[in-house]
Amino acid sequence: MCGIVGYVGPREVRPLLFAGLEKLEYRGYDSAGISVLNGEQIDLIRAVGDLSFLRDAMAENSNGSAPPVVADGTGIGHTRWATHGLVTEANAHPHYSTNSRIHIAVNGIVENYVTLKESLVKDGSVFTSETDAEVIAHLIERHYNGDLTKAVRDAYQDLIGHYAFVAMSVDEPGVLVGARKECPLVVGRGEGEQFIGSAVPAFLKETKRVQYMNDDEIVVLRPDGVEFLTVDGEPLAREIDEVDWDADTAEKGGYETFMLKEIHEQADAVAETIGERAAAEDSIDLGDLGQISDHLLRNISRIVVVACGTSYHAGLVGRYAIEEWARVPVEVEIASEYRYRNPVVGPNDLVIGVSQSGETADTLAAMATARNAGASVLAITNIVGTRMTREADGVLFTRAGMEIGVAATKTFVTQVAAFYLLALRLAELRGALAPHDLSSRIAELKHLPHLMSEVLDAGTATIEKVADQVYKQNFFMYLGRNSSLPIALEGALKLKEISYIATDAYAAGEMKHGPIALLDESTPVVVVATNSPVLSKLISNIQEVRARGARVIAVATEGDTEIDAHADEIFRVPATNAMLSPLLAVIPLQLFAYFIAGHRGLNVDRPRNLAKTVTVE
Ligand code: M6R
Repeated sequence: MCGIVGYVGPREVRPLLFAGLEKLEYRGYDSAGISVLNGEQIDLIRAVGDLSFLRDAMAENSNGSAPPVVADGTGIGHTRWATHGLVTEANAHPHYSTNSRIHIAVNGIVENYVTLKESLVKDGSVFTSETDAEVIAHLIERHYNGDLTKAVRDAYQDLIGHYAFVAMSVDEPGVLVGARKECPLVVGRGEGEQFIGSAVPAFLKETKRVQYMNDDEIVVLRPDGVEFLTVDGEPLAREIDEVDWDADTAEKGGYETFMLKEIHEQADAVAETIGERAAAEDSIDLGDLGQISDHLLRNISRIVVVACGTSYHAGLVGRYAIEEWARVPVEVEIASEYRYRNPVVGPNDLVIGVSQSGETADTLAAMATARNAGASVLAITNIVGTRMTREADGVLFTRAGMEIGVAATKTFVTQVAAFYLLALRLAELRGALAPHDLSSRIAELKHLPHLMSEVLDAGTATIEKVADQVYKQNFFMYLGRNSSLPIALEGALKLKEISYIATDAYAAGEMKHGPIALLDESTPVVVVATNSPVLSKLISNIQEVRARGARVIAVATEGDTEIDAHADEIFRVPATNAMLSPLLAVIPLQLFAYFIAGHRGLNVDRPRNLAKTVTVE
């Protein structure tokens, strides 16, 4: 939540900050702002709304009476996802201290801000926003004695919560000081200039050389170098990593939106994730899983998956595959609930945290709960260097590349692919599948990206036509059974998050226990009816739905003619093993949601009220 960017160096800072914010806008887009050192003052420009409003405000500012910006650039920028305080210009970051000489950009939450604010106000601080974050600027001013680094370290000790921030001072041109606690902050190393941001894309166009910060660390950026320190001021060594992302991968590559581009990248992303891990015909090689050894995988008695949103749905698919193939019991838990329960979990359990961003606060907390109870913890995530990768006993990386659209698509399918790999590895280690069956499942898994490409290449005419007919509806029901149930849940989530249409998703067998009362002739019911051991049961449920006059839109397997008599519209996907069909069935549903949102004129890449990375609970 919220994106921070900062620059020190010889170049004009405004365009660099703005370009960085554009790359971080997926983290929040309620309002945005920049602070730029300008001689004896810091110019602050903020605007409510997406970055186009900030761009206008910046243009106005440079055409108006503001003094010209000095060539030597020191500046910070922020794009906000509101937590405390309304979406107003006053609440937009950067915030500043009472004497306006210290500016800060913050991501996260200061939990003790009420107490701190009371004491600061008593001491004469004047607050200009309703945010929790502003206390940090005043605290730094309180501690400032000619040394910004020391003041940030002292302020850091006063704070409780989870946050990352970057500070600058009029009195120290060419210096930025960052601090990190449980929210991401990454440094980009240039020649004679340095960058800092909430994520690598903030400066990827300028440098691929990055240094990751850990929690409870302070970083000091000057044009000629970067220092990492403990909060007590002890220097820390930090290696420079080279990221292999291409800046172009962050662009739309000819597609109208990032979401559409990312939907079309799914077959490659799954192929990449499976890759050499399934190179052998009869064995899965998960590579280095840290402390999650083969011995441990052979002996765990239960798996608990903790995740949120779409990642939770990936865990649900994973449960079906692991239980079916490896015969290990699996529970899938919503992380925000799990973390506040007193869960029964311990040394015989493997807890798997799933998160595309690797920074979701609730998932991290759920993993910590399990680790503290003695469980082994594995992370399935897409981003190297995130907190999740550092706190887990082992990491199984998905290889989706950068996902910019807020709606998860290619990260979802790669998470599911990671679960398939894990399920087969467990089956292999535990002898749960006969060698012949294991080889067959591996072969089918390797063929899956090819089938996904077929779905993507098949054209979208039917999906677009149906979307055109139903986009004005204000309620959709989604149904599934067995491994298609998580896809019904995911399809419903995709539609609601990008089109703002109410959806419900149910296990089809549950319909008659209540939800069927919602249906009438106007209700579109989307049924994930791909091949499965319970397809005939699902068809009975479809008949119950149709008896109420509802319109059935089915996702079905090519060659299944029985469904023709039971559905008004059919989106076809190729035949595969029933356990693998979720990765095919989800594609038409992503596209369906996409076209409906498009018909409603909505911005699918940045749906309202959402953010790509949810670092607050
Ligand atoms: O980064 P994570 O995978 O942990 O994010 C969890 C959810 O916020 C996320 O999956 C969300 O539901 C999706 N953006 C929805 O498309």
